[in-house]
Amino acid sequence: MTSNNAWKARGDKVFIQTYNRFPAAMVKGSGCRLWDADGKEYLDFLSGIAVCALGHSHPVVTEAVCRQAGSLMHVSNLFYTAPQIELAELLIANSFADRVFMANSGAEANEAAIKLARIHSGAGRFEIISLAGSFHGRTLATVAATGQPKFHEGFEPLPQGFVHAEFGDPAALEGLIKDQTCAILCEPLQGESGVRPLEASYLRAIRNLCDKHDLLLIFDEVQTGMGRTGTLFAYEQLGVTPDIMTVAKALGNGLPIGAMLTTDKIAASLAVGTHASTFGGNPVAAAAAVATMKLILEGDFLNTVQKRGKYLAGKLEEVAGRFPDFATGVRGRGLLLGLILTEKGIGLGAAIVTRLFEQGVLINFAGNRVLRFIPPLVVSREEVDLMIGALIDVLDNINLEESS
Ligand SMILES: Cc1ncc(COP(=O)(O)O)c(C=O)c1O
Repeated sequence: MTSNNAWKARGDKVFIQTYNRFPAAMVKGSGCRLWDADGKEYLDFLSGIAVCALGHSHPVVTEAVCRQAGSLMHVSNLFYTAPQIELAELLIANSFADRVFMANSGAEANEAAIKLARIHSGAGRFEIISLAGSFHGRTLATVAATGQPKFHEGFEPLPQGFVHAEFGDPAALEGLIKDQTCAILCEPLQGESGVRPLEASYLRAIRNLCDKHDLLLIFDEVQTGMGRTGTLFAYEQLGVTPDIMTVAKALGNGLPIGAMLTTDKIAASLAVGTHASTFGGNPVAAAAAVATMKLILEGDFLNTVQKRGKYLAGKLEEVAGRFPDFATGVRGRGLLLGLILTEKGIGLGAAIVTRLFEQGVLINFAGNRVLRFIPPLVVSREEVDLMIGALIDVLDNINLEESS
């Protein structure tokens, strides 16, 4: 069998080097476990970056994918398909929305939201305010919406019509509103820049500004949606309803699919021919998403996510208490949690992730400031304990002097 090293050597010859990959070629996944080409087992607290909510290769999703692939793999959006309709019905029945546009990814769902906000708001109103530290994708418009200069560098000139407000300050945000403003775009919890939750009061203030100035409120729930924070969508627990919402990542539990949701009134602005996607809502991806959503909505699933999130947060608090040189506390919601690092800890963040990887535990270092824990939502207490044991072992043995 081809080894990790052999795959790495072949991969490094052929790929444009945009990713800083771990030196492992993954060949198999089941639940919260992954196996690489050398047969090494990993406990996965990254889940494809908040994608495999039901764990890897969930049998019900796999069965739905195989069944759909066996009957119809693709047809143009010039036709209806049952999985896409069923998925849209599920999304609508379980959210504020009346209508859905299907995309393939988070960035594409956000592109659709940006276009909708502009066309709905009419001529001269095109500017979108997003927040410092936000992440909205890697296409040019979503990079421009992203409030982190490091993602802009080298790609200028960026598309016009995006400004960034200081995080957590409604007055600063209001100061940016002009005649040309059409929407405010934000994540209810900033995942990529270091697991930073937006307080409910801050989100309510943003909602009020939108109402006062006749702006659309767009929630990017690409990372927070599909049960990740303990409710199907994060907005449900914050008492603030958006006008437009985007989801992707866990929607298909590993198959690429995204969606933009909105109300009847706003949706009416996107007329025939104004937006489209060849693969958006592809029947196989949509079948995976229907199976995934049904399982997330079933019985006690979301209550268990909340309980498991509290358990993991409690364990991470204990780690922070035990290693005050490395960590100061925990933040996040549900099973989207970050261990906040001290300055010294930040210098060691990448090394901690590497050591854990060597021990067979996968996490990542988000925004160069927190260790992020985003396991499959089906993670057990025993798996949390195993990960915590490995983390304590790494922190016990890492030398603070290594801090860069
Ligand atoms: C909040 C948020 N929006 C958008 C995206 C982009 O999604 P995709 O990589 O599927 O385009 C991400 C990806 O990390 C995200 O976290």
